Amino acid sequence: MTHESTVDAVFTPIDHARSAFDQLGGEPGVRQLVERFYDLMDMEPDLAALRAAHGPSLDQARERLFLFLCGYLGGPDLYVQQFGHPRLRARHLPFAIGEAERDQWVVCMGRAMADVGVSAALSDRLLQAFYGTADWMRNRAG
Ligand code: HEM
Repeated sequence: MTHESTVDAVFTPIDHARSAFDQLGGEPGVRQLVERFYDLMDMEPDLAALRAAHGPSLDQARERLFLFLCGYLGGPDLYVQQFGHPRLRARHLPFAIGEAERDQWVVCMGRAMADVGVSAALSDRLLQAFYGTADWMRNRAG
C-alpha cells in the first residue's frame, strides 16, 4: 500500500517491545551516557550556567543520576533501592534552577545521547520526557 510506505519513509518506528534501558545497552550503556553527560557539562562553555548550579565535584551526581536513570528508563530500580522515593523536585530545591539551567540540561543530554550513538528516534522521545522533568524542577523565575 502506498500509504504505508509513505509513513515508513517519514517516521522511524519506536521500539515499544524493549525498554529504553535495554535499547541503551543496559547498565553499561546508561553508565556511558551519564559519564558523557557530565563530561560535556564540565567542559562546554555554553553549559556553564548548568555547571555552576553544581558543586565543585560532579562525582555524586554521576553516580546518582546513573542509579536513577536505570529505573526511570525501565531497568532495575537501583536509586529507589538505595535512597527511597526520588523526590526529585524537593532534592533540587537547594540548587537555583531557572530556564537557562533547564534548557542546558536538556541540550547537554541531547549531545550526550548523540555522542554515545543513541538513535534519533529514541533520543527525541527521551528528550521530550526529560524536558518535562527538567521544567518541573524549576524553582526560580527566569
Ligand atoms: C533542570 C536542570 C537541573 C539541574 C541544574 C540539576 C542539578 C542537580 C544538582 C546540583 C544535583 C546535586 C548533585 C550532587 O549531589 O552533587 C542534582 C542531583 C540529581 N539530579 Fe539533577 N539537575 C537538573 C535536572 C535533572 C533532571 C531532569 C533529572 C532527571 C531526569 C535529574 C536527576 C538528578 C538526580 C537523580 C540527582 C541525585 C539526587 C540525590 O539523590 O541527591 N536532574 N541535580
